[in-house]
Amino acid sequence: MFKASIYEKRRSQLTKKIDSGLLLFLGNEESSMNYTDNVYPFRQDSNFLYFFGIDQPHLAAIIDVDEQKTILFGDDFSIEMVVWMGPHPTIAELGKKVGVQHTAPYGELVDYLKKAGSAARDIHFLPPYRPENKIKLHEWLDIPLAALNDQASVPFIKGVVALAGIKSPEEIEEIEKAVDISGLMHISAMKSTQSGIKESQLAGIVEGIAIAAGGRLAYPAIVTVNGQTLHNHYHGNTLKKGQLVLGDFGAETTMHYAGDITRTFPVDATFTQQQKEIYSIVLDAQMKAIEAIKPGVPYLDIHLLASTIIAKGLIALGIMKGDADAAVAAGAHALFFPHGLGHMMGLDVHDMEDLGEQHVGYTESQSRSEQFGLNALRLARPLEPGFVLTVEPGIYFIPELIDSWEAEGRFTDYINYPKLKEYRTFGGVRIEDNILVTESGYRVLGQPIPKTIEEIEALRK
Ligand code: GLY
Ligand code: MN
Repeated sequence: MFKASIYEKRRSQLTKKIDSGLLLFLGNEESSMNYTDNVYPFRQDSNFLYFFGIDQPHLAAIIDVDEQKTILFGDDFSIEMVVWMGPHPTIAELGKKVGVQHTAPYGELVDYLKKAGSAARDIHFLPPYRPENKIKLHEWLDIPLAALNDQASVPFIKGVVALAGIKSPEEIEEIEKAVDISGLMHISAMKSTQSGIKESQLAGIVEGIAIAAGGRLAYPAIVTVNGQTLHNHYHGNTLKKGQLVLGDFGAETTMHYAGDITRTFPVDATFTQQQKEIYSIVLDAQMKAIEAIKPGVPYLDIHLLASTIIAKGLIALGIMKGDADAAVAAGAHALFFPHGLGHMMGLDVHDMEDLGEQHVGYTESQSRSEQFGLNALRLARPLEPGFVLTVEPGIYFIPELIDSWEAEGRFTDYINYPKLKEYRTFGGVRIEDNILVTESGYRVLGQPIPKTIEEIEALRK
């Protein structure tokens, strides 16, 4: 937890952005896995963490904008709860830690909301994503479940995005801790890799490091020889000579800030010539994209820069053909790079994604492209100092997508389908780092993690 004044300042800055009414914050509840008492690891809601910092279930808060009053709602532990879960600070003590003077039992929250509802006051809430909180809002505010997201408060969403999008020095320090733990996880995976072991052995090693550091994974680990499947969480394959391992995993610190790093490396001690050629294109795209980061530059432009470098590289190998700029404008490169260049990162690995990607990643004047590939770009808006984001280009050979495009005769001016047959079982390469936008440019967060072919081969030996 940060010191109380940090949470007080965040709440006061948010309150200034809202004309009137109540701001309702719902913390998360425990979430059951297979029966009520067997729960997933508890994860507090990131907005609740950002404004109230308290990392325990069954809490809520109201900022009454008109009365300039903040109230934390929660229940003190009964003696039965102490028997099962140990002693706990009271809600009043927790409130004090984050600068909240007024606290009340959880049950009183409903009365407060009903009273505000009867007086026709605005009750601002954020888009709920957990079923428990959806049901609460539905019952308390009498809003159909399906309408909750549409009725979430746009001024509240915009207020949170404006504040939480710009990371403060103490947040950057936390993110950098997460990146450094993530780096150790990647180095360990690269060192532990050998043919004959299972992907799950590497997955266990990296998750163990995240837990040993006091936190856990920031998202389910991708550790796969099938890197062409973008979010591949299957870990049952045995590593074989000649394959590439794509590892996309990161740690979440004890304060719940995320790291999100990807490295791709050979099962053998060295890359094959074909692997080197594809890897070098992705690395070039990633490094040039990072170098292009500075305030004012739309991230959309940097995504297109990386896409053009990828198209040029594939043209040089004879896999694509024609003019790279025209191929990217048409979207032909998305056969190989079907996702966005990156996303914001902070308390969530895809930061604030619960608030809606349009509000987080796009300005009001930017509409999201419907073109395949570009439609997956989560961040397009002009960059600002204090943004923390990922840069993660990739090249993938997805047999099913190749077959489908070839059967449709798509982009035959730009794609050399006969040549592509040589790469059918290649897999995928992605390289990802976490970057802070500074006043003058960028800073790659954390200690360097082996990334060039030479660095990775040195580690693999
Ligand atoms: N690390 C997974 C993703 O960014 O989607
Ligand atoms: Mn990422």
